[in-house]
This record gives sequence, structure tokens and C-alpha cells, in this order.
Amino acid sequence: MIEVKNLSYTYNDGNEALKSISTSFPEEHIFAVTGMSGSGKTTLLNCLARFLHPQQGEILLNGEDIRQMDEVTFRSNIGVVFQRLNLFPHLTVLENLSLAPIKLAKGPKKTIIHDAQDMLERLGIPELATHYPAQISGGQAQRVAIARGLMLKPGVMLLDEPTSALDARTSQEFSEWLRELQSDTGFIIVTHDLAFAEITAAKGIFMSGGVIVKSGPIRDVLAHIDGGLAQ
Ligand SMILES: Nc1ncnc2c1ncn2[C@@H]1O[C@H](COP(=O)(O)OP(=O)(O)O)[C@@H](O)[C@H]1O
Ligand SMILES: [Mg+2]
Repeated sequence: MIEVKNLSYTYNDGNEALKSISTSFPEEHIFAVTGMSGSGKTTLLNCLARFLHPQQGEILLNGEDIRQMDEVTFRSNIGVVFQRLNLFPHLTVLENLSLAPIKLAKGPKKTIIHDAQDMLERLGIPELATHYPAQISGGQAQRVAIARGLMLKPGVMLLDEPTSALDARTSQEFSEWLRELQSDTGFIIVTHDLAFAEITAAKGIFMSGGVIVKSGPIRDVLAHIDGGLAQ
């Protein structure tokens, strides 16, 4: 469970991107953070990921203030996949998956490589193991980036605009794939793609101008938006 309390973030140029927002993210669901471009979604994600430090408010992970957590504990609880996936271009898919666990000494190298192979099998993409990022499609790269994040077994993963490089059909397949994974890991998905949010998430929020204008079951959130836009 992640709780956000009275969180505000203002950029150096005075832009108030988050204005005292409060919400909570249950870990066992796929949760969508929606809103139009510029509404503050990525800023919120970067605060949750501890890449930005809010001027006001707090974020609690299972009751503990994330500012108090040591880096390794924090990163093994909350995984992040950025909009630009940041796969290492000079490493194969299998090497991309193995790198962080090896660096963090999560076990003998042989075991980690075996686990990475298992992860690719489990996620239905074993054939990609020996490919380099430039040799795979956008949809495959998105899955590989998530597989890499899952190697550290986080309780929750944050995804920023995961469908931005995918066509409608690939987005739908990706949605089904994510829903299969949610029994092991919770996902918080930042997206302006409302159709994707609707088929993927159980609950969500809709942001506008740095505040949360609606939260709850995803259908209610989207119905509120449709109603609002029609007025
Ligand atoms: N590095 C930055 N410096 C100044 N303003 C920024 C920066 N990044 C984002 N913003 C501004 O903060 C607001 C929220 O941006 P962002 O969180 O990226 O929104 P979203 O992800 O919903 O598109 C916008 O007004 C945006 O222009
Ligand atoms: Mg964004």
C-alpha cells in the first residue's frame, strides 16, 4: 500500500506541477494515473520513484516514509519503467535482465542468468534472450523492460506511458499480458491513453492542473471525464 498525503511539487521555474494531492494505491491492483498532457502525472510518478523530492507532504510505503528507506530496500520494493525504456543497447535481452541482480549481488551469476531465462519463459518471450534491443519491436521492448524490472521482485512497478510506442492491437495484447502478471506484482500505470486505462486498470485517478479531480473504480473515473468533457 502506497499512501500520498498533501503532496506538492513545484519546479525551479515556479511551475506548481502537484498541488497538495492525497491518494492511496493498493498494491494488489493495476492502478491508472490518467489525465491530459501536462496534468502532473509524470511528476507524481517521479516523486513516487524518489527521483524528485516534493517540497511538501509525504509518501508512505506500507506505513513507512519513503525518505527514510535505504536505497537498496527502496529500489527492491518499487520498480520503475520509464517512457524511454532505457534498455542497454550493447547488451542482449538476457544480459539486460541479469545486469542489476548481478550488480546488487542477488546470488551467483549462473543462478541469476538461469532466473533471467526463467523470467523470459514465464513472460512468454524466451526467444528474445539473445537479441539486442535494436533487433526487437516496440511491443517486445516494452515487455523486456518490464521483465527486467521484475527481476528484482518489486511489490509494485511504476510504468510511464507504456503504450506510447504501441499501435492499438499491440496495446490490447500488452494489456492482457499485464493483467496476467498482476497476481504477483501491482502496477501503477501513468497514461493519457484512456482506452488502455479502461481495459487494463481496476481503479484509477484523473488529474488536471496538478490536482486529482476524480478517483475510484476506473469506469467511474472515465465516466466522470466523459460527462465533464460533454458539458
Ligand atoms: N523539468 C520541468 N521544469 C519545469 N516544468 C516542468 C518540468 N517537467 C514538467 N514540467 C511542467 O509540470 C507540469 C506537469 O508536467 P508532467 O508531470 O510532465 O505532466 P504529464 O506527465 O501529465 O504530461 C506541466 O505544466 C509541465 O510543463
Ligand atoms: Mg508524462
